[in-house]
Amino acid sequence: MSGESDFDEALSPLRWRAGALELLDQRALPAEERWLAYSDYRGVATAIKDMVVRGAPAIGCAAAYGVALGALARAPLKEVIAELRATRPTAVNLFWALDRMAAVAAAGGGAEPLVAEARAIHAEDLAACRAIGDHGAPLIPDGVVLTHCNAGALATGGYGTALGVVRSAHRQGRRLRVFADETRPFLQGARLTAWELMKSGIDVTLVTDGMAAHLMQRGEIQSVIVGADRIARNGDAANKIGTYAVALAAREHGLPFFVAAPRSTIDRAIPDGAAIPIEERDPGEVTHLGGRAIAPAGARVRNPAFDVTPSRLITAIITEVGVARAPYQDSLAALCG
Ligand code: MRU
Repeated sequence: MSGESDFDEALSPLRWRAGALELLDQRALPAEERWLAYSDYRGVATAIKDMVVRGAPAIGCAAAYGVALGALARAPLKEVIAELRATRPTAVNLFWALDRMAAVAAAGGGAEPLVAEARAIHAEDLAACRAIGDHGAPLIPDGVVLTHCNAGALATGGYGTALGVVRSAHRQGRRLRVFADETRPFLQGARLTAWELMKSGIDVTLVTDGMAAHLMQRGEIQSVIVGADRIARNGDAANKIGTYAVALAAREHGLPFFVAAPRSTIDRAIPDGAAIPIEERDPGEVTHLGGRAIAPAGARVRNPAFDVTPSRLITAIITEVGVARAPYQDSLAALCG
């Protein structure tokens, strides 16, 4: 399952070719399918910061390959890992993957075991996503499922978490349609979720973020599924900004709200969502759209990239080893072994 063709079939946004990391440039989608090649770990760090590659599990995979590139170039691995750690603060998969790479580096053996570990992290994430799909598909009621941001193949080693569940349900011939929030300000829903679902022949309808509550009120949505960037011990889950508002609306309308994530997204060191670091990104993402100003020059701006959905609003957390339900303190501990 670690063959290149398996990754390709799963729409992986990363590939390791001839000692270099290739990333599908997600900033260029949907207009252009452009692959960029990296042989320097610093380039990988910049690619993570600039969102060439994004989505918690994909960031972890890219960072792992970044360490492998550092090792191949005989760069000091402590510096390599420190630079990759400083790219994005919220997705815990980044730190999880770098800790795994650091442990292999500490065992010695040069670059080869580090390349093998990065490939293993990538392959395991793809397998985890498929298992999440299997566990989650039976939970999603027929009809329309709303998703926010992109927790799809593009955000992972391939296949997707939230969209992995949708993919599995689709493969089983279930009658499921997806409503995709456009996801201001970076438009992962419009640019990426719509693109990857259309490419896979899955029924998707694009809506703006402000439409979700209205469509729930009208009975046009039956469930919600999203991914996560970091899940605290009590089940509070950080995900793309706007997710919390969707969860509140789902609760008001009595709709199930599912979070799908691999165990590498669960941060056992953090008791609750208040302790999750929230990335603030460049105000230009809010004031500009496609390079054009959409706000007055000099306007004061906030741009928190994530929010935290309290676990009381979450119906279930779907992982690769099973489904956790409240009380999450206990169910997540059991799933994490
Ligand atoms: O800023 P991004 O695009 O990296 O944010 C991505 C998300 O919020 C995803 O929903 C999350 O990482 C889960 S991806 C399987």
